[in-house]
Amino acid sequence: MRIPAELSDRLMEANGRPYTLSIDPGHKVYGEKLMMRGGKEWREWSVSRSKPAAYLAAGGSSFPLRRDNSLLYLGAASGTTASHFSDILDQGAVHCLEFSPRSFRDLVRVCGRRGNMIPIMGDATRPESFAFAVGDVDIVYQDVAQKGQATILADNMDAFNADLGMLAVKARSEDVTALPRDVFIAARDLLKSRGFKVMECRPLDPHEKDHAIMVVGR
Ligand SMILES: C[S@@+](CC[C@H](N)C(=O)[O-])C[C@H]1O[C@@H](n2cnc3c(N)ncnc32)[C@H](O)[C@@H]1O
Repeated sequence: MRIPAELSDRLMEANGRPYTLSIDPGHKVYGEKLMMRGGKEWREWSVSRSKPAAYLAAGGSSFPLRRDNSLLYLGAASGTTASHFSDILDQGAVHCLEFSPRSFRDLVRVCGRRGNMIPIMGDATRPESFAFAVGDVDIVYQDVAQKGQATILADNMDAFNADLGMLAVKARSEDVTALPRDVFIAARDLLKSRGFKVMECRPLDPHEKDHAIMVVGR
């Protein structure tokens, strides 16, 4: 697993698993394992519950976050993965967008304990409708699992002037009959046609079947 040197204070590997340094010691978000190391509390980042953790465990090498970054998270659900970004970006912000009222209720509870997580109820396909609540960001992370995933990422990166993006592509959400590899290629081509550079496209097997994470720059 490659942990970027600049993040070694916030993210580490132990027993082949990623861990983030908790900004809310003593509290679990989704039943994750807690571990003391160097007098500090670290939270295991579950590779079966969270795609960026699966990406790191699968050998992903582009992880371009900095601890003071502002990140827009599309499809934050109840905040499982977003809480780990909140640990890593302890000097930054995680704007968490979600449109399911049920998930949003849980998300608000998680954000209430973490000063750098901001819950936003909204639709990722309509960035103009929630732009008032976000402003420019450094990076967009997207995990909305609906058709047109690459277009939604590109539209949001443009709307919020983000230089970086991470896209969790769920092949079956695009086309249940297509080979996942073909779906990933189509997403990559779409992003290139929109003027983005795809720095890495990594399938998440065996942790998440038929998923990949793409890391995108300008
Ligand atoms: C795969 S789940 C996300 C899991 C979450 N990212 C995590 O790792 O903790 C996809 C989420 O995206 C939300 N979603 C789907 N389409 C959306 C849209 N257009 N706008 C906002 N949220 C959306 C769903 O309600 C769902 O909670």
